[in-house]
Amino acid sequence: MSRIAYVNGRYVPHRDAMVHVEDRGYQFADGVYEVCEVHEGRLVDETRHLDRLDRSLRELRIASPMGRAQLTTVMRETVARNRVRNGLVYVQVTRGVARRDHPFPDPAPRPALVVTAKWTDRSGLDKLAARGIGVITVPENRWARPDIKSIGLLPNVLVKQQAREAGAREAWYVDRDGMVTEGGSSNAWIVTTDGRIVTRRADNAILKGVTRAGVIDLLGRRNLQLEERAFTVAEAKAASEAFITSASNLVVPVVTIDGEKVGDGTPGPVALSLRAGLHEVTEMSRPVIHGG
Ligand SMILES: Cc1ncc(COP(=O)(O)O)c(C=O)c1O
Repeated sequence: MSRIAYVNGRYVPHRDAMVHVEDRGYQFADGVYEVCEVHEGRLVDETRHLDRLDRSLRELRIASPMGRAQLTTVMRETVARNRVRNGLVYVQVTRGVARRDHPFPDPAPRPALVVTAKWTDRSGLDKLAARGIGVITVPENRWARPDIKSIGLLPNVLVKQQAREAGAREAWYVDRDGMVTEGGSSNAWIVTTDGRIVTRRADNAILKGVTRAGVIDLLGRRNLQLEERAFTVAEAKAASEAFITSASNLVVPVVTIDGEKVGDGTPGPVALSLRAGLHEVTEMSRPVIHGG
């Protein structure tokens, strides 16, 4: 079945899905995005994703391309047209198309909206989680506002490639104080040897992950102890477990950091049980497709 994309008001075959060369997203990375999980034909934590999208747009003074109900309809329609049962829906909004000049165009163009959806290999992801992943650590070199989900991802692209070339799956940024901020496309967590679950406070230095919020809800429900604070690479290496969270991979155990084993070098029980329980607490939309 061929894929369909939503581009500025039209559903088009994916291969024909194009934006203008002077789209400010293309020229300046002047835009924001969201990636929302689709689980068994339902959108997961749509409200949190759309709240974060609104916030990112507000921070960059980009107008919303449409109202929330309408955007929800477009996301659902894109998922349905691609018959995605388990996968991801991607939403990107840029400041729009205008003659190339750095300041905001005046008058403001219509924000450009692209929505795509794709299947993911759920069993492949589960196998990956069962094995655990390696992470490398890299100096934090992004701009000062990673809390905005900007499409400007070049530093992330470079460290993800660096991780791949090192035989790892993720790179953890480390700030000037030696503290882990987050991964190239995920939030970073550890479990201390006395069972405390630690992740950095969601300030301007990290993206406030929707999956991170779901895990925090799950910890609350299970009466597990959360510490929102920064941790060092040394503390992570000495932890009993480490893991990452993101909408595209959910909870994935980290078994090595810079090639050194975390705990006994196998996926930890806390990470695995959080992965198994995550969908108990996440908001699920009504089904988008039936039977698909
Ligand atoms: C830099 C970064 N941090 C954290 C996350 C995790 O956020 P979420 O759980 O909302 O996917 C992502 C997701 O893409 C990311 O790119």
